[in-house]
Amino acid sequence: MLRAPGRPLVVEDVELDGPGPGEVRVRIEAAGVCHSDLHYMTGDLPARLPIVVGHEGAGVVEALGPGAGTRVAVGDRVALMWRPRCGDCDACVRGDPVLCRFGRVFAQTNGLFDGTTRLHRPDGRGGDERIHHLMGVSCFAERVVVSETSTTRVPDGVPPEIAAIAACAVITGVGAVLNAAGSPGGRPLAVIGTGGVGLAAVMGAHLAGASPIIAVDLDPAKLELARRFGATDVIDAGHEDVVARVLELTGEGAPRVIDAVGAAVTMQQGVAALAPGGTLVAIGLARADATVAVPINDLVQRQKRIVGALYGSSNPRLDLPRIFALYLAGRLPLDDLIGTRRPLAEVNEAYAELRSGGAGRGILVP
Ligand SMILES: NC(=O)c1ccc[n+]([C@@H]2O[C@H](COP(=O)([O-])OP(=O)(O)OC[C@H]3O[C@@H](n4cnc5c(N)ncnc54)[C@H](O)[C@@H]3O)[C@@H](O)[C@H]2O)c1
Ligand SMILES: [Zn+2]
Ligand SMILES: [Zn+2]
Repeated sequence: MLRAPGRPLVVEDVELDGPGPGEVRVRIEAAGVCHSDLHYMTGDLPARLPIVVGHEGAGVVEALGPGAGTRVAVGDRVALMWRPRCGDCDACVRGDPVLCRFGRVFAQTNGLFDGTTRLHRPDGRGGDERIHHLMGVSCFAERVVVSETSTTRVPDGVPPEIAAIAACAVITGVGAVLNAAGSPGGRPLAVIGTGGVGLAAVMGAHLAGASPIIAVDLDPAKLELARRFGATDVIDAGHEDVVARVLELTGEGAPRVIDAVGAAVTMQQGVAALAPGGTLVAIGLARADATVAVPINDLVQRQKRIVGALYGSSNPRLDLPRIFALYLAGRLPLDDLIGTRRPLAEVNEAYAELRSGGAGRGILVP
């Protein structure tokens, strides 16, 4: 639980109410260590406090609230999706559910669909302290109550930690390539930042046949991993000129660059490294007030484009089963993406490792 930005997370026992209408209770089997939680821990992104963080999780359905059970049954293994899906707003109806209008409700209330929370604890003064949910998931926990619409069934053969990372890092990175970058087959693609999300983008580029695939990071260990996932060339941004190297490798620049860092400097490198007519797909997040300056004439005269992609610009209910199928078919080597496994009590150590550059996606096992 996050009590104050800049402070370590605290591990506490809290009360979890039963699932309300349309909600389910899930026992968490694995949760991924994503940088987005860190943005809330540092205060880069605002949230109502205290809050249970964690949004990349998978587990087993234990209980159904009133009216729930149309999509999942008790005993089903599920992955948790961190974007709401009301099914009825313009974005949901046009098939773009990552922009569901309830995303704003989740962000503003840090509650579930009705804006209320299922988490609380006695405050020690006779009162009851409400505790908030992150993105309708809050899976750094033994159990969660979520909307049934936040769940997708996990097929046999997909282990819990793979299901967990599939539901954020993998669908975000692979989806950025498949959904937002057009058809990269046979053309250069560069990925800047090869943490969990960027490595998934490298895998997506490999799957889609991009060539060459250029991985950029400050950390040589991550670049080694990128090679294993299909990067043909790597650039150590701490010691090499990223833009000059991409131009050297591609001739006129890369038609597609994915920024999986979320910093002004990397986005500027990405724009400069684009070929004429190329697209920078921005997937890294930053402080709530962060901006980036880009050269106007470079955009206009070379017809460059910058697009954002949330949750891989995916349709998670359709695309997450595709990720599982690709994994089961041996087309996405997700086992090799798994980093250190730790118990929940070591959540702060897991984030220290994310910050200091441990390669692969850390996993918390309650
Ligand atoms: N768009 C979405 O829907 C979505 C989903 C998940 C995560 N994210 C965001 O994506 C970003 C990456 O997440 P992650 O979990 O992979 O984080 P991570 O910390 O595991 O990876 C970030 C990587 O960027 C590298 N890096 C940092 N500065 C760099 C620089 N100047 N040049 C090159 N590389 C640099 C780091 O070495 C690290 O490998 C975060 O901002 C996260 O919040 C966005
Ligand atoms: Zn995430
Ligand atoms: Zn909606």
